[in-house]
Amino acid sequence: MLRVAVLASGRGSNLEALLEASRQGNAGYRIVGVFSDKPQAGALDIARAAGIPAVALAATKGEDRAKHDAAFFARVRQVQPDLIVCAGYMRIISADALAHLTIPMINIHPSLLPRYPGLHTHARVLEAGDTEHGSSVHVVTAELDAGPLLAQTRIDVRHDDTPDTLAARVLTQEHRLLPACVRAIASRRLSVTGSAPLFDGVPLTAPLRLLESTGELTR
Ligand code: GRF
Repeated sequence: MLRVAVLASGRGSNLEALLEASRQGNAGYRIVGVFSDKPQAGALDIARAAGIPAVALAATKGEDRAKHDAAFFARVRQVQPDLIVCAGYMRIISADALAHLTIPMINIHPSLLPRYPGLHTHARVLEAGDTEHGSSVHVVTAELDAGPLLAQTRIDVRHDDTPDTLAARVLTQEHRLLPACVRAIASRRLSVTGSAPLFDGVPLTAPLRLLESTGELTR
């Protein structure tokens, strides 16, 4: 069983999707801890209700980022995860903390990276007049939302879309994409430990996508 620690700052719908998928017989992973920088995060309530250790470590004003991250990741390490999943973790992690981390970490982001790293992705897609939008899962590196891409989902942008309607459609896909990525890592089809991600032993040349029929990843 792959031991997964989840980092979340918000309501936790991606955590919920991960939890639900982990309860399927062949998921191959278990969520062993949920960690947040926001004590009020809904994700913590979801974890507690599921009997999973939930830890909040808020940064205090003026606190050194690297120092806070060191304390935060010391708590994460206590649950001995094999994989860390950022599921709506909105805090920028210091390069120093990432350099000291030997556990692979992935993140889900609501855009077709490398387009629109950072915040307000749905509004930015509409402003740019894009016809396509989506979500991405990538390996976390020191550069914000810019680590190696693992998988993406795509939707068409409709003429009457608003940031909210786009967010809702993208989120529905996030809830399938993130568990699929964690399952693939658990089954070792997807490897994120080396210098470049591998799928079935072969380097990725493009992000994987979801196979509609099975909900599994494919090239
Ligand atoms: C998701 O859209 C995620 O991609 C982004 O923040 C949102 C988190 O939603 N980084 P939730 O807390 O999982 O419901």
